Amino acid sequence: MASTLFNASCSFPSIKVIDCKSHVGLRSNVSQVRVASLPIATSQRRSLVVRASNGHAKKLGRSDAECEAAVAAGDVPEAPPVPPKPVAPAGTPVIQPLNLNRRPRRNRASPAVRAAFQETDISPANFVYPLFIHEGEEDTPIGAMPGCYRLGWRHGLLQEVAKARAVGVNSIVLFPKVPEALKNPTGDEAYNDNGLVPRTIRLLKDKYPDLIIYTDVALDPYSSDGHDGIVREDGVIMNDETVHQLCKQAVSQARAGADVVSPSDMMDGRVGAIRAALDAEGFQNVSIMSYTAKYASSFYGPFREALDSNPRFGDKKTYQMNPANYREALIEAREDEAEGADILLVKPGLPYLDIIRLLRDKSPLPIAAYQVSGEYSMIKAGGVLKMIDEEKVMMESLMCLRRAGADIILTYFALQAATYLCNQKR
Ligand code: PBG
Repeated sequence: MASTLFNASCSFPSIKVIDCKSHVGLRSNVSQVRVASLPIATSQRRSLVVRASNGHAKKLGRSDAECEAAVAAGDVPEAPPVPPKPVAPAGTPVIQPLNLNRRPRRNRASPAVRAAFQETDISPANFVYPLFIHEGEEDTPIGAMPGCYRLGWRHGLLQEVAKARAVGVNSIVLFPKVPEALKNPTGDEAYNDNGLVPRTIRLLKDKYPDLIIYTDVALDPYSSDGHDGIVREDGVIMNDETVHQLCKQAVSQARAGADVVSPSDMMDGRVGAIRAALDAEGFQNVSIMSYTAKYASSFYGPFREALDSNPRFGDKKTYQMNPANYREALIEAREDEAEGADILLVKPGLPYLDIIRLLRDKSPLPIAAYQVSGEYSMIKAGGVLKMIDEEKVMMESLMCLRRAGADIILTYFALQAATYLCNQKR
């Protein structure tokens, strides 16, 4: 919406373009005669066009009422003079116009026309802002994610949320950095009602009751093994036992006031189990955003540095999806739908636009896309090195996620992009 407003605000220059282009197909002998008699310099022609469109009323000094009366009496003003054909550079070939039924460029000819036919919009309401928190008082910069911090849960976090709300971002998702001493193989700190996440949710809800709080449901920040599930002696990630822990985690988050719990662990059957656990505790109104198609991606590197949550051994390929797979996303989507997910998420974002489009076309549920840490850091790095225009690439990447079919976007750019959109408004 905001970008449409922005585009629409640029309607003035369109006068020039329409005057030049729209006459190309209508060129008559009369207009050519007129062209020949007009001055040639470009600047003079421009001013002539402007005068022509305003000139009548001014020259005659008529009021609006007099103009109306004149028109009613049949005294209609003449059309403005047809502008001369602009000069092409020397050496431009002189040719017959192509005989085309369709010239798609007509619908791109000016900012106003482009705004009218823009198919996709983006607004701060589409963003969910991922925020890293820790127990400390300070905000600690995250080396691999320029512009992102581990925020002190009592100070920095509240300030960041206030900034986001001021530009229309009212949804956040929390990621905790948990002290090493609180981690164990079964990730039990994940469901401590007085742990960092539940405590932070209570504080936020007290200050901003209408803030939409998403939480991450997975064991990795709490696991001494750095995996999303419980690791057996032989390295196997135990599915059903992990789901048991995840249910306790989700209920603990709901009890603290979370609006949307988001299992990102990729265990089988966790959405249905979490739904049942929430309902059993009276949290029928808490939503589930399922990480439906979460791939075993190297784009998560900076995030794992931020939380110090790298798997201590092996990788996550026995639970996260193979980046080579497309149809498998449908299997996950069908399960999550059947188990009661409210929102389906695809992750990462830009390299997986085809998966976003697939789920958009195959499911009526809202679709979320996660523009992950590696995507963010690459754009930031390219901007710092002046290889790309950071702000334009940021906005384009977010628009592309929307075009592919994402309703909401989890992005570390949420504040920056929303600020940009707000500044575009008139
Ligand atoms: C862990 C989790 C990860 C991310 C979100 N939740 C990392 C992982 O799966 O290893 C990554 C987000 C990002 O890279 O921005 N459950």
